[in-house]
Amino acid sequence: MTIVHSLERSAEVLKYSKSVIVFAGAGLSAESGLPTFRDQGGLWEGHRVEDVAEPGGFTRDPLLVWRFYAERQTRQLQVQPNAGHFALAQMETHFPDFLLVTQNVDNLSERAGSQKIVKIHGDLMEVWCSLCSWKSRLDMPVVLESLRSVDDIPRCPKCAELVRPGVVWFGEMLPPGTIDVSLSTAAKADVLLIVGTSGLVSGGYGLAETTKASGGTVVEINPAETYLSGIVDICIRSASSVALPKLLALIVS
Ligand code: OAD
Repeated sequence: MTIVHSLERSAEVLKYSKSVIVFAGAGLSAESGLPTFRDQGGLWEGHRVEDVAEPGGFTRDPLLVWRFYAERQTRQLQVQPNAGHFALAQMETHFPDFLLVTQNVDNLSERAGSQKIVKIHGDLMEVWCSLCSWKSRLDMPVVLESLRSVDDIPRCPKCAELVRPGVVWFGEMLPPGTIDVSLSTAAKADVLLIVGTSGLVSGGYGLAETTKASGGTVVEINPAETYLSGIVDICIRSASSVALPKLLALIVS
């Protein structure tokens, strides 16, 4: 299959589309100042996944895990959405049928105005009970200030177990319903826009196959080639903060 490299061609296809699904990853927030995971200097270069992103890591050292996520929440509250987040929020109002499926646990898309979002890896602003289904929103930096030992970690008001960051870890199920709604939307989408993800986890390939199987077009926006590049129809090799506003301008013109 020949892959077309063209922002203009992507805009042409989008211009005549009614149903659009976006599958986003850490690259979308990179230019806001949040590190990706697998790029140089990414989060997984500086931390061992098994320590901070697996249930076993939390069991072994909950304090380390709390500090890691509280620092990430602090950082996300200090940075601002970029032009890519704002362009996606605008696209949501332009297409009759639109869904942003994001792997990002940051809140930058919401802060840019996106409302039709499915957060398949959880939400860094939330905490979940490590045992029961209780969940809540929590200002982690405030907790961090008084976090000296495991005894300072908040406990679930329902079952008294330790509270954990509201983020999906490796080996865990994605939040109920998120895969179903993503796949059913991908199946009727005219376009699947894959933005800023290496595609190495969480079903990006399956979404692309689903959209293609029903005759839709798959577009990738990423400055680098990825695991998903082989399946896409059109590539835009550019930062999302540059490509998305340009696409939006061409779509609405
Ligand atoms: P990765 O770090 O795996 O990939 C980031 C992608 O963003 C790479 O393909 C980069 O080329 C691309 N990128 C970098 N800068 C960009 C920019 N300015 N514009 C557009 N793209 C850019 O991050 P994800 O694919 O999001 O899961 O990782 C998926 C999941 O793996 C994460 O949600 C996380 C991680 O383990 C959990 O924490 C559960």
